[in-house]
Amino acid sequence: MDATSARVDELMSQLTTAEKAGQLTQYFYFRLPATDAEPALGLDPDAQPRMVEEALERGEVGSLLFVTDPGEINRLQRLAVSGNRLGIPVLFGFDVIHGLRTIFPVPIAMAASWDLETIERGQSVAAREARAAGIHWAFAPMVDIARDPRWGRMIEGAGEDPFLGAAVAVAQVRGFQGTDVGQPDRIVAGPKHFGGYGAALGGRDYDEVNLSEYELWNVYFPPFKAAVDAGAGNVMTAYMALNGVPASGSRWLFTEVLRELWGFEGFVVSDANAVRNLATHGFAADQADAGVRAVTAGVDMEMAIADPAYAHLPDAVNAGAVSEDVIDSRVRRVLEAKLRLGLFDNPYVDEERARAVLADPQHREAARVAAERSAVLLRNEGDLLPLDGALASLAVIGPLADSKRDTLGPWVFDFDLAETVTVLDGIRRKVGDRVSVDHAPGVGVAQRLSPSIFDMFGGNRPADPEGFDEDAEFGRAVRIAADAGVAVVVVGEWQNMIGEQASRSSLDLPGRQLELLQAVVATGTPVVLLVMNGRPLDLRWAADNVPAILDIWYPGTSGGTAVADLLFGDVSPSGKLPFSWPRTVGQVPIVYSHTRSHEPDNQGRRYWDEASTPLFPFGYGLSYGTFAYSDLTVDRPSITPDATVTVSVRVSNHADREAAEVVQLYLHQRHGSAARPVRELKGFRRVVLAAGATQEVRFALGPDERRYWSTTHRDWVLDSSTFDVWVGGDSTAELTASFEVTGR
Ligand code: BGC
Repeated sequence: MDATSARVDELMSQLTTAEKAGQLTQYFYFRLPATDAEPALGLDPDAQPRMVEEALERGEVGSLLFVTDPGEINRLQRLAVSGNRLGIPVLFGFDVIHGLRTIFPVPIAMAASWDLETIERGQSVAAREARAAGIHWAFAPMVDIARDPRWGRMIEGAGEDPFLGAAVAVAQVRGFQGTDVGQPDRIVAGPKHFGGYGAALGGRDYDEVNLSEYELWNVYFPPFKAAVDAGAGNVMTAYMALNGVPASGSRWLFTEVLRELWGFEGFVVSDANAVRNLATHGFAADQADAGVRAVTAGVDMEMAIADPAYAHLPDAVNAGAVSEDVIDSRVRRVLEAKLRLGLFDNPYVDEERARAVLADPQHREAARVAAERSAVLLRNEGDLLPLDGALASLAVIGPLADSKRDTLGPWVFDFDLAETVTVLDGIRRKVGDRVSVDHAPGVGVAQRLSPSIFDMFGGNRPADPEGFDEDAEFGRAVRIAADAGVAVVVVGEWQNMIGEQASRSSLDLPGRQLELLQAVVATGTPVVLLVMNGRPLDLRWAADNVPAILDIWYPGTSGGTAVADLLFGDVSPSGKLPFSWPRTVGQVPIVYSHTRSHEPDNQGRRYWDEASTPLFPFGYGLSYGTFAYSDLTVDRPSITPDATVTVSVRVSNHADREAAEVVQLYLHQRHGSAARPVRELKGFRRVVLAAGATQEVRFALGPDERRYWSTTHRDWVLDSSTFDVWVGGDSTAELTASFEVTGR
């Protein structure tokens, strides 16, 4: 028995059942302005913190979330340690989604870099800041596959593809946890939301999900499996019902799949109030039943705003509804996490050090590099980009061009607006007095029909300045654009329009942004369109009429600096789309990895009123480099199912400048026990090529890349078949080769 288990045993032998239930309970701790808090949460703003502090004093809290101030964390930790007879500290968890103080590009943007080192580095910076502040655990990465961009939480994940999703999930887990969460500057990673949350009916957040086993095993589960294999210390449940059973009460998900099949050894937390909601769903009879069902299913810790269902567990044990052994096994996992983190030895943080770590300029630098690598160049007619340094004047137009809060994106709370670099700031700093730069937002802030839960946080809800006259502003913006050498137009969704509770029924540019873009293009001034988004938007008009389009996502703290470097060619764009970009909302879901089905030659003509191909394919992204692929070879023409082939290709950069390219490999199985997708991503590598350079890139294709879950066998299979591979710069790559798999 190791020292951790021995210590856990010793603690377990002394805990009362009420204290055990407390260890399984996590409370939100935050005070909101009264006017906002009451309607939003149904709470007296002070009642909740008071209730939590009383529970801390009774020694009945396992964890807290939403506290980020190091001084406040120390104060609450002291209450916890002194309130608990055994001095058990609480775990502080938080949504460290794309940074704490230093805000990185949003997760979908990080995925668009296809750069696993940059992704890992981003979450290691986030972990360093979080741990310094006293936060031990991130509710991240979100590894939900998203194939319907009406679902706003698509921004938090890695897009549509399970292979890319799994690789990005692993990089994030490593970034947060390092090789051991007990080391300095590391925190526990909590992949979420298990499972299937991204497939909400109609893209409506929280609505039910109905997924076949085929899709679960082949598409939605692989990123979770990969995160678990990478050692993630926590997993979070999902709110909705999966195939009729609320995920947070699903024994199949949390015991059979996660523990028994995948061997997960960390602890599971429910999503916020998701245990209580088992009754709301009409699944559990009441709160006591909800607690019993969740804990029995394998949900170790309940995340609660107030009145946790797990408070009923001691009575449930007395009544025989759940055994003390079940409770004990859950508590052990929570205590193990605290011990692994070294919390018993040192539960407090050094507030002085926290200030220094949060201010580290290297973190802003890492965020800048990440923003550069995540931008995706969607169009560049006549090589309008990079901009000519000899340009005399520049118009920077659009409501998002100088909005610090929007530049950061959603799901951030501890940012510093003063250090946030907008697109306008970045351009101005870069060109100095050399180029005259004029700016106008052009249109006012578009509003949601209903506020989201995040709109109640101070400064989160965008608004026009007092006395804003949209018509006058529109005219001014167009005049500025008409007088400039080039117009940079920044459009997209305001950050409160994307994320949780931010589903949409259309993908249009909100408000009058398209009209503004059209008016600016009509002036004849060459236009560079920058898109600030976390999901594809309807860019059909722009794709036909605007020469250059760069997707900059919500690029974070150093975003504007990165964008200026990209615009002026200090660095070449190298991001690639992590999803198929639909032409219109009526096409969704649209994925590149569909099957051939009936009449595959008509794939682009499935609709009679619009092409049924995407506007931009999965994996797509242009560069200032010019890449050519050649010499695709497979080392062996035929292998047995358990063997591996090596695929190699040569990539050259014919441009007279350095640029990075993401080399992608796609695989297709021609026949088998199921009809397989036309193509599936099975390998990728980001390579940096100097002007005129050529590099050979190799990929191994073994059983793991060919195995899939077949409905015919209701199991994983490795078929004998002919396999086609394509390698290139996106999912429409044409360079192809094939090999055979024979025998059993
Ligand atoms: C979200 C989770 C998040 C939690 C805590 C929930 O509403 O679904 O992803 O971690 O809130 O903020």
